[in-house]
Amino acid sequence: MNVLLIGSGGREHALAFALARSPLLTKLYAAPGNPGIGKLAELVSVKVTDHAAVISFCKSHDIGFVVVGPEAPLVAGLVDDLAVAGIKAFGPSKFSAQLEGSKGFTKDICAKFGIPTAAYGRFTDEAKALAYLKKHGAPIVIKADGLAAGKGVTVAMNMAEAENAIAEIFAGRFGTGECVIEEFMEGEEASFFALSDGVNVLALATAQDHKRVGDGDTGPNTGGMGAYSPAPCMTPALCAETLEKIVKPTVAALASMGHPYKGVLYAGLILTRDGPKLIEYNARFGDPETQVMMMRLKDDLLTLLMASVDGTLDKMSVRWRDETALTVVMCAKGYPGDVVKGSHINGLAQEFGKDVEVFHAGTALDGEFIVANGGRVLNVTALGKTPRDAQMKAYAAVDKIDWPESFCRRDIGWRAV
Ligand code: AMP
Ligand code: GLY
Repeated sequence: MNVLLIGSGGREHALAFALARSPLLTKLYAAPGNPGIGKLAELVSVKVTDHAAVISFCKSHDIGFVVVGPEAPLVAGLVDDLAVAGIKAFGPSKFSAQLEGSKGFTKDICAKFGIPTAAYGRFTDEAKALAYLKKHGAPIVIKADGLAAGKGVTVAMNMAEAENAIAEIFAGRFGTGECVIEEFMEGEEASFFALSDGVNVLALATAQDHKRVGDGDTGPNTGGMGAYSPAPCMTPALCAETLEKIVKPTVAALASMGHPYKGVLYAGLILTRDGPKLIEYNARFGDPETQVMMMRLKDDLLTLLMASVDGTLDKMSVRWRDETALTVVMCAKGYPGDVVKGSHINGLAQEFGKDVEVFHAGTALDGEFIVANGGRVLNVTALGKTPRDAQMKAYAAVDKIDWPESFCRRDIGWRAV
Protein backbone atom coordinates (compact mmCIF):
# COMPACT_ATOMS: atom_id res chain seq x y z
CA MET A 1 0.00 0.00 0.00
CA ASN A 2 1.12 3.55 -0.69
CA VAL A 3 1.08 5.83 2.37
CA LEU A 4 1.19 9.62 2.61
CA LEU A 5 2.63 11.11 5.81
CA ILE A 6 1.73 14.73 6.57
CA GLY A 7 4.18 16.88 8.51
CA SER A 8 7.81 17.96 8.64
CA GLY A 9 9.12 17.61 12.19
CA GLY A 10 11.04 15.15 14.32
CA ARG A 11 7.77 13.43 15.20
CA GLU A 12 7.12 12.78 11.52
CA HIS A 13 10.68 11.56 10.97
CA ALA A 14 10.13 9.05 13.78
CA LEU A 15 6.76 8.02 12.31
CA ALA A 16 8.44 7.59 8.91
CA PHE A 17 11.16 5.46 10.58
CA ALA A 18 8.43 3.13 11.92
CA LEU A 19 6.23 3.20 8.79
CA ALA A 20 9.16 2.50 6.48
CA ARG A 21 9.68 -0.95 8.00
CA SER A 22 6.02 -1.97 7.71
CA PRO A 23 5.43 -5.17 5.72
CA LEU A 24 2.23 -3.53 4.43
CA LEU A 25 4.07 -0.60 2.85
CA THR A 26 4.72 -0.31 -0.86
CA LYS A 27 5.81 3.31 -1.05
CA LEU A 28 5.97 6.12 1.49
CA TYR A 29 5.39 9.75 0.51
CA ALA A 30 5.74 12.74 2.85
CA ALA A 31 4.33 16.23 2.52
CA PRO A 32 6.33 18.33 3.02
CA GLY A 33 8.75 16.15 5.02
CA ASN A 34 12.36 17.17 5.72
CA PRO A 35 15.82 15.99 4.61
CA GLY A 36 15.86 13.19 7.22
CA ILE A 37 12.44 11.93 6.13
CA GLY A 38 13.68 12.24 2.55
CA LYS A 39 15.92 9.21 3.17
CA LEU A 40 12.84 7.08 3.87
CA ALA A 41 10.13 8.63 1.73
CA GLU A 42 9.58 10.58 -1.45
CA LEU A 43 9.04 14.21 -0.48
CA VAL A 44 6.16 15.95 -2.20
CA SER A 45 5.39 19.63 -2.26
CA VAL A 46 1.57 19.43 -2.20
CA LYS A 47 0.20 22.19 0.04
CA VAL A 48 -1.26 20.57 3.17
CA THR A 49 -3.71 23.44 3.81
CA ASP A 50 -5.18 22.89 0.33
CA HIS A 51 -7.33 19.83 1.04
CA ALA A 52 -8.45 19.50 -2.59
CA ALA A 53 -4.79 19.33 -3.64
CA VAL A 54 -4.05 16.65 -1.03
CA ILE A 55 -7.06 14.62 -2.23
CA SER A 56 -6.01 14.95 -5.83
CA PHE A 57 -2.45 13.85 -4.96
CA CYS A 58 -3.82 10.81 -3.11
CA LYS A 59 -5.96 9.83 -6.08
CA SER A 60 -3.18 10.23 -8.65
CA HIS A 61 -0.66 8.31 -6.50
CA ASP A 62 -2.93 5.49 -5.37
CA ILE A 63 -2.56 6.43 -1.69
CA GLY A 64 -4.32 3.85 0.48
CA PHE A 65 -3.67 5.52 3.82
CA VAL A 66 -2.79 8.98 5.09
CA VAL A 67 -1.06 9.57 8.44
CA VAL A 68 -1.51 13.10 9.79
CA GLY A 69 1.28 14.10 12.21
CA PRO A 70 0.58 17.66 13.46
CA GLU A 71 -2.51 19.15 15.07
CA ALA A 72 -3.16 22.02 12.64
CA PRO A 73 -4.41 19.86 9.72
CA LEU A 74 -6.56 17.83 12.16
CA VAL A 75 -8.17 20.96 13.58
CA ALA A 76 -8.65 22.19 10.00
CA GLY A 77 -10.64 19.03 9.17
CA LEU A 78 -8.24 17.33 6.76
CA VAL A 79 -9.25 13.86 7.95
CA ASP A 80 -12.97 14.68 7.42
CA ASP A 81 -12.34 15.92 3.88
CA LEU A 82 -10.21 12.88 3.01
CA ALA A 83 -12.93 10.57 4.38
CA VAL A 84 -15.58 12.26 2.21
CA ALA A 85 -13.30 11.63 -0.78
CA GLY A 86 -13.07 7.95 0.22
CA ILE A 87 -9.46 8.13 1.43
CA LYS A 88 -8.59 6.52 4.75
CA ALA A 89 -6.70 8.82 7.09
CA PHE A 90 -5.39 8.37 10.62
CA GLY A 91 -6.38 11.01 13.13
CA PRO A 92 -9.50 12.52 14.66
CA SER A 93 -12.19 14.50 12.85
CA LYS A 94 -12.33 18.26 13.11
CA PHE A 95 -14.98 17.97 15.83
CA SER A 96 -13.01 15.47 17.92
CA ALA A 97 -9.74 17.35 17.45
CA GLN A 98 -11.30 20.06 19.63
CA LEU A 99 -10.02 17.95 22.52
CA GLU A 100 -6.71 19.62 21.69
CA GLY A 101 -7.92 22.72 19.86
CA SER A 102 -10.18 24.00 22.62
CA LYS A 103 -9.32 23.78 26.30
CA GLY A 104 -12.86 24.85 27.19
CA PHE A 105 -14.33 21.98 25.14
CA THR A 106 -12.18 19.46 27.00
CA LYS A 107 -12.86 20.94 30.43
CA ASP A 108 -16.60 20.85 29.80
CA ILE A 109 -16.40 17.14 28.85
CA CYS A 110 -14.38 16.42 32.00
CA ALA A 111 -16.99 18.18 34.13
CA LYS A 112 -19.93 16.44 32.48
CA PHE A 113 -18.42 12.94 32.54
CA GLY A 114 -16.60 13.06 35.88
CA ILE A 115 -13.07 12.89 34.46
CA PRO A 116 -10.50 13.98 37.07
CA THR A 117 -8.97 17.37 36.21
CA ALA A 118 -8.41 20.76 37.84
CA ALA A 119 -11.48 22.77 38.87
CA TYR A 120 -12.00 25.61 36.41
CA GLY A 121 -13.99 28.52 35.11
CA ARG A 122 -14.39 29.51 31.45
CA PHE A 123 -14.78 33.20 30.52
CA THR A 124 -15.38 35.44 27.52
CA ASP A 125 -15.78 38.46 29.79
CA GLU A 126 -12.74 40.01 31.47
CA ALA A 127 -14.60 41.37 34.49
CA LYS A 128 -16.06 37.93 35.24
CA ALA A 129 -12.62 36.32 34.84
CA LEU A 130 -11.16 38.82 37.31
CA ALA A 131 -13.99 38.20 39.77
CA TYR A 132 -13.32 34.43 39.61
CA LEU A 133 -9.62 35.08 40.17
CA LYS A 134 -10.38 37.26 43.22
CA LYS A 135 -12.56 34.54 44.70
CA HIS A 136 -9.98 31.73 44.24
CA GLY A 137 -6.63 33.53 44.66
CA ALA A 138 -3.11 32.46 43.65
CA PRO A 139 -1.38 30.14 42.87
CA ILE A 140 -3.69 29.65 39.93
CA VAL A 141 -3.37 28.81 36.23
CA ILE A 142 -4.55 31.09 33.40
CA LYS A 143 -4.94 29.67 29.88
CA ALA A 144 -5.86 31.22 26.55
CA ASP A 145 -8.33 29.03 24.70
CA GLY A 146 -7.33 27.77 21.26
CA LEU A 147 -4.06 26.56 19.81
CA ALA A 148 -1.37 28.83 21.24
CA ALA A 149 1.62 26.52 20.61
CA GLY A 150 2.07 26.00 24.34
CA LYS A 151 2.58 29.71 24.93
CA GLY A 152 -0.93 30.51 26.13
CA VAL A 153 -0.50 29.10 29.65
CA THR A 154 0.56 31.06 32.73
CA VAL A 155 1.12 29.28 36.03
CA ALA A 156 0.63 32.39 38.18
CA MET A 157 2.21 32.22 41.61
CA ASN A 158 0.72 35.59 42.66
CA MET A 159 -2.26 37.82 41.88
CA ALA A 160 -0.31 40.37 39.79
CA GLU A 161 0.93 37.64 37.43
CA ALA A 162 -2.58 36.24 37.12
CA GLU A 163 -4.16 39.66 36.42
CA ASN A 164 -1.50 40.36 33.84
CA ALA A 165 -2.13 37.04 32.06
CA ILE A 166 -5.87 37.70 31.95
CA ALA A 167 -5.30 41.21 30.55
CA GLU A 168 -3.07 39.78 27.80
CA ILE A 169 -5.66 37.24 26.74
CA PHE A 170 -8.44 39.82 26.54
CA ALA A 171 -6.13 42.19 24.66
CA GLY A 172 -6.17 39.47 21.97
CA ARG A 173 -2.52 38.41 22.27
CA PHE A 174 -3.39 34.80 21.48
CA GLY A 175 -6.01 35.47 18.86
CA THR A 176 -8.81 34.34 21.18
CA GLY A 177 -11.02 36.29 23.53
CA GLU A 178 -11.60 33.27 25.72
CA CYS A 179 -9.87 32.36 28.92
CA VAL A 180 -9.86 29.27 31.14
CA ILE A 181 -8.87 29.70 34.78
CA GLU A 182 -7.82 26.54 36.61
CA GLU A 183 -7.01 25.31 40.05
CA PHE A 184 -3.23 24.87 40.50
CA MET A 185 -2.39 21.15 40.74
CA GLU A 186 0.79 19.84 42.34
CA GLY A 187 2.67 16.69 41.42
CA GLU A 188 4.97 15.06 38.90
CA GLU A 189 3.94 15.39 35.24
CA ALA A 190 3.81 12.48 32.82
CA SER A 191 2.27 11.67 29.46
CA PHE A 192 0.11 8.69 28.60
CA PHE A 193 -0.62 7.66 25.01
CA ALA A 194 -3.46 5.49 23.73
CA LEU A 195 -5.05 4.66 20.40
CA SER A 196 -8.81 4.78 19.97
CA ASP A 197 -10.98 3.54 17.12
CA GLY A 198 -14.02 5.39 18.41
CA VAL A 199 -15.10 2.55 20.70
CA ASN A 200 -12.08 0.48 21.71
CA VAL A 201 -8.98 1.83 23.40
CA LEU A 202 -5.48 0.38 23.20
CA ALA A 203 -2.96 1.77 25.70
CA LEU A 204 0.36 2.56 24.04
CA ALA A 205 3.17 3.85 26.23
CA THR A 206 4.19 6.53 28.73
CA ALA A 207 6.79 9.27 28.47
CA GLN A 208 8.08 12.36 30.21
CA ASP A 209 9.48 15.46 28.58
CA HIS A 210 11.44 18.53 29.57
CA LYS A 211 9.66 21.75 28.63
CA ARG A 212 12.06 24.34 30.05
CA VAL A 213 14.99 25.47 27.94
CA GLY A 214 17.66 25.27 30.67
CA ASP A 215 19.35 22.55 32.72
CA GLY A 216 17.57 21.82 36.00
CA ASP A 217 14.25 22.67 34.30
CA THR A 218 14.88 26.42 34.39
CA GLY A 219 14.21 29.26 31.93
CA PRO A 220 11.33 29.78 29.52
CA ASN A 221 9.03 27.05 28.23
CA THR A 222 9.75 25.47 24.85
CA GLY A 223 8.13 22.91 22.57
CA GLY A 224 10.23 20.29 24.42
CA MET A 225 13.99 19.91 24.93
CA GLY A 226 14.05 16.15 25.35
CA ALA A 227 12.02 13.16 26.46
CA TYR A 228 12.22 9.56 27.53
CA SER A 229 9.97 6.52 27.58
CA PRO A 230 8.78 4.78 29.66
CA ALA A 231 8.09 7.24 32.49
CA PRO A 232 9.21 5.42 35.65
CA CYS A 233 6.57 7.22 37.77
CA MET A 234 3.78 5.71 35.66
CA THR A 235 3.44 2.39 37.49
CA PRO A 236 1.14 -0.28 36.04
CA ALA A 237 -1.47 0.73 38.64
CA LEU A 238 -1.33 4.40 37.60
CA CYS A 239 -1.52 3.43 33.92
CA ALA A 240 -4.61 1.33 34.63
CA GLU A 241 -6.18 4.17 36.63
CA THR A 242 -5.46 6.65 33.81
CA LEU A 243 -6.96 4.33 31.25
CA GLU A 244 -10.13 3.58 33.24
CA LYS A 245 -10.81 6.99 34.81
CA ILE A 246 -9.55 9.38 32.15
CA VAL A 247 -9.02 7.95 28.66
CA LYS A 248 -11.89 5.45 28.35
CA PRO A 249 -14.49 7.91 29.72
CA THR A 250 -13.29 10.52 27.22
CA VAL A 251 -13.67 8.12 24.30
CA ALA A 252 -17.14 7.14 25.58
CA ALA A 253 -18.05 10.82 25.96
CA LEU A 254 -17.19 11.67 22.36
CA ALA A 255 -19.02 8.59 21.10
CA SER A 256 -22.11 9.64 23.06
CA MET A 257 -21.88 13.07 21.42
CA GLY A 258 -22.08 11.39 18.01
CA HIS A 259 -18.41 12.06 17.17
CA PRO A 260 -16.40 8.90 17.91
CA TYR A 261 -12.75 9.74 18.57
CA LYS A 262 -10.42 7.92 16.18
CA GLY A 263 -6.72 8.52 16.51
CA VAL A 264 -4.12 8.84 19.22
CA LEU A 265 -5.00 10.41 22.53
CA TYR A 266 -2.09 12.03 24.27
CA ALA A 267 -3.05 12.72 27.86
CA GLY A 268 -0.88 15.20 29.76
CA LEU A 269 -1.17 14.25 33.43
CA ILE A 270 -0.26 15.52 36.86
CA LEU A 271 0.13 12.78 39.46
CA THR A 272 -1.53 14.47 42.42
CA ARG A 273 -2.05 13.09 45.93
CA ASP A 274 -5.56 12.19 44.79
CA GLY A 275 -4.36 10.24 41.76
CA PRO A 276 -3.66 11.15 38.14
CA LYS A 277 -5.48 14.24 36.87
CA LEU A 278 -5.73 15.47 33.31
CA ILE A 279 -3.91 18.71 32.43
CA GLU A 280 -4.74 18.61 28.75
CA TYR A 281 -5.26 16.37 25.76
CA ASN A 282 -3.43 16.45 22.48
CA ALA A 283 -5.12 14.85 19.50
CA ARG A 284 -1.86 13.69 17.93
CA PHE A 285 1.41 12.03 18.80
CA GLY A 286 3.85 13.96 21.00
CA ASP A 287 6.94 15.72 19.75
CA PRO A 288 9.59 14.62 20.88
CA GLU A 289 7.75 11.78 22.69
CA THR A 290 7.11 9.95 19.41
CA GLN A 291 10.85 9.82 18.76
CA VAL A 292 11.36 7.77 21.92
CA MET A 293 8.20 5.70 21.52
CA MET A 294 9.05 4.61 17.97
CA MET A 295 12.46 3.38 19.17
CA ARG A 296 10.66 1.06 21.60
CA LEU A 297 7.81 -0.11 19.36
CA LYS A 298 8.17 -3.78 18.40
CA ASP A 299 4.97 -4.17 16.40
CA ASP A 300 3.94 -2.73 13.05
CA LEU A 301 2.86 0.92 13.37
CA LEU A 302 0.93 0.93 10.12
CA THR A 303 -1.19 -2.06 11.21
CA LEU A 304 -2.01 -0.31 14.49
CA LEU A 305 -2.91 3.03 12.88
CA MET A 306 -5.11 1.30 10.31
CA ALA A 307 -6.93 -0.57 13.10
CA SER A 308 -7.77 2.81 14.65
CA VAL A 309 -9.46 3.90 11.41
CA ASP A 310 -11.09 0.50 10.72
CA GLY A 311 -12.52 0.04 14.22
CA THR A 312 -10.60 -3.15 14.93
CA LEU A 313 -8.41 -2.14 17.86
CA ASP A 314 -10.14 -4.76 20.02
CA LYS A 315 -8.24 -7.37 17.99
CA MET A 316 -4.88 -5.64 18.46
CA SER A 317 -2.14 -5.75 21.04
CA VAL A 318 1.11 -3.89 21.15
CA ARG A 319 4.56 -4.78 22.42
CA TRP A 320 7.35 -2.45 23.45
CA ARG A 321 11.01 -3.01 24.13
CA ASP A 322 11.67 -2.94 27.87
CA GLU A 323 14.64 -0.65 27.45
CA THR A 324 14.48 3.10 27.98
CA ALA A 325 14.58 5.35 24.96
CA LEU A 326 15.80 8.90 25.49
CA THR A 327 16.03 11.82 23.09
CA VAL A 328 18.05 15.02 23.32
CA VAL A 329 16.83 17.97 21.27
CA MET A 330 19.64 19.93 19.63
CA CYS A 331 18.59 23.54 19.03
CA ALA A 332 19.92 26.48 17.11
CA LYS A 333 21.43 29.07 19.48
CA GLY A 334 18.86 31.60 20.59
CA TYR A 335 15.91 29.20 20.82
CA PRO A 336 13.16 29.68 22.07
CA GLY A 337 13.83 33.29 21.01
CA ASP A 338 15.00 34.33 17.56
CA VAL A 339 17.42 31.96 15.87
CA VAL A 340 19.67 32.33 12.86
CA LYS A 341 18.82 29.83 10.15
CA GLY A 342 21.26 28.32 7.69
CA SER A 343 24.20 27.20 9.89
CA HIS A 344 25.87 24.03 8.54
CA ILE A 345 25.52 20.73 10.39
CA ASN A 346 28.28 18.22 9.70
CA GLY A 347 28.74 14.62 10.69
CA LEU A 348 25.20 13.38 10.21
CA ALA A 349 26.20 10.75 7.65
CA GLN A 350 28.43 8.81 10.07
CA GLU A 351 27.49 5.55 11.80
CA PHE A 352 26.16 6.43 15.27
CA GLY A 353 25.93 2.83 16.38
CA LYS A 354 23.19 0.35 17.11
CA ASP A 355 20.10 1.71 18.84
CA VAL A 356 20.88 5.34 18.03
CA GLU A 357 18.83 7.41 15.61
CA VAL A 358 19.20 11.07 14.75
CA PHE A 359 15.79 12.38 13.76
CA HIS A 360 15.56 15.61 11.80
CA ALA A 361 13.17 18.20 13.20
CA GLY A 362 14.11 21.52 11.65
CA THR A 363 16.66 20.93 8.92
CA ALA A 364 16.84 21.92 5.27
CA LEU A 365 19.11 21.17 2.35
CA ASP A 366 21.39 23.92 1.06
CA GLY A 367 22.88 22.31 -2.01
CA GLU A 368 24.46 19.17 -0.63
CA PHE A 369 24.70 20.51 2.96
CA ILE A 370 22.29 19.94 5.81
CA VAL A 371 21.55 23.28 7.48
CA ALA A 372 19.52 24.41 10.48
CA ASN A 373 16.09 25.64 9.48
CA GLY A 374 14.35 26.35 12.77
CA GLY A 375 14.71 26.37 16.57
CA ARG A 376 14.51 22.69 17.43
CA VAL A 377 16.62 21.04 14.76
CA LEU A 378 17.76 17.49 15.64
CA ASN A 379 16.48 14.81 18.01
CA VAL A 380 19.36 12.57 19.02
CA THR A 381 17.72 9.41 20.28
CA ALA A 382 19.10 6.26 21.90
CA LEU A 383 17.88 3.05 23.46
CA GLY A 384 19.62 1.80 26.59
CA LYS A 385 19.24 -0.95 29.16
CA THR A 386 18.66 1.72 31.82
CA PRO A 387 17.78 5.43 31.65
CA ARG A 388 21.42 6.19 32.46
CA ASP A 389 22.66 3.96 29.64
CA ALA A 390 20.26 5.59 27.14
CA GLN A 391 21.34 9.03 28.34
CA MET A 392 25.04 8.23 27.92
CA LYS A 393 24.50 6.83 24.42
CA ALA A 394 22.42 9.83 23.34
CA TYR A 395 24.99 12.37 24.58
CA ALA A 396 27.86 10.40 23.02
CA ALA A 397 26.03 10.77 19.68
CA VAL A 398 25.33 14.49 20.32
CA ASP A 399 29.07 14.99 20.83
CA LYS A 400 29.85 13.40 17.46
CA ILE A 401 27.76 15.98 15.59
CA ASP A 402 29.75 18.94 14.33
CA TRP A 403 27.48 21.95 14.63
CA PRO A 404 29.06 24.87 16.54
CA GLU A 405 25.92 27.06 16.34
CA SER A 406 23.88 24.63 18.45
CA PHE A 407 23.09 23.97 22.09
CA CYS A 408 21.20 21.33 24.03
CA ARG A 409 20.34 20.56 27.61
CA ARG A 410 22.88 18.30 29.30
CA ASP A 411 20.55 16.75 31.85
CA ILE A 412 17.73 15.15 29.85
CA GLY A 413 16.29 12.27 31.84
CA TRP A 414 17.59 13.41 35.24
CA ARG A 415 14.39 12.35 36.98
CA ALA A 416 14.63 8.82 35.59
CA VAL A 417 18.41 8.53 36.04
P1 AMP B 1 -0.83 22.97 28.95
O1 AMP B 1 -0.49 23.77 27.72
O2 AMP B 1 -2.27 23.02 29.32
O3 AMP B 1 -0.28 21.58 28.87
O4 AMP B 1 0.00 23.60 30.13
C1 AMP B 1 1.40 23.78 30.03
C2 AMP B 1 2.06 23.48 31.35
O5 AMP B 1 1.50 24.31 32.38
C3 AMP B 1 1.83 22.07 31.85
O6 AMP B 1 2.73 21.17 31.32
C4 AMP B 1 1.99 22.22 33.35
O7 AMP B 1 3.35 22.24 33.71
C5 AMP B 1 1.41 23.58 33.61
N1 AMP B 1 0.00 23.49 34.02
C6 AMP B 1 -1.07 23.53 33.22
N2 AMP B 1 -2.22 23.41 33.92
C7 AMP B 1 -1.85 23.31 35.22
C8 AMP B 1 -2.57 23.20 36.45
N3 AMP B 1 -3.90 23.19 36.50
N4 AMP B 1 -1.85 23.11 37.59
C9 AMP B 1 -0.50 23.15 37.57
N5 AMP B 1 0.24 23.28 36.45
C10 AMP B 1 -0.42 23.36 35.28
N1 GLY C 1 6.01 17.39 23.78
C1 GLY C 1 4.88 18.22 23.84
C2 GLY C 1 3.92 18.08 22.74
O1 GLY C 1 4.05 17.29 21.82
O2 GLY C 1 2.92 18.78 22.78
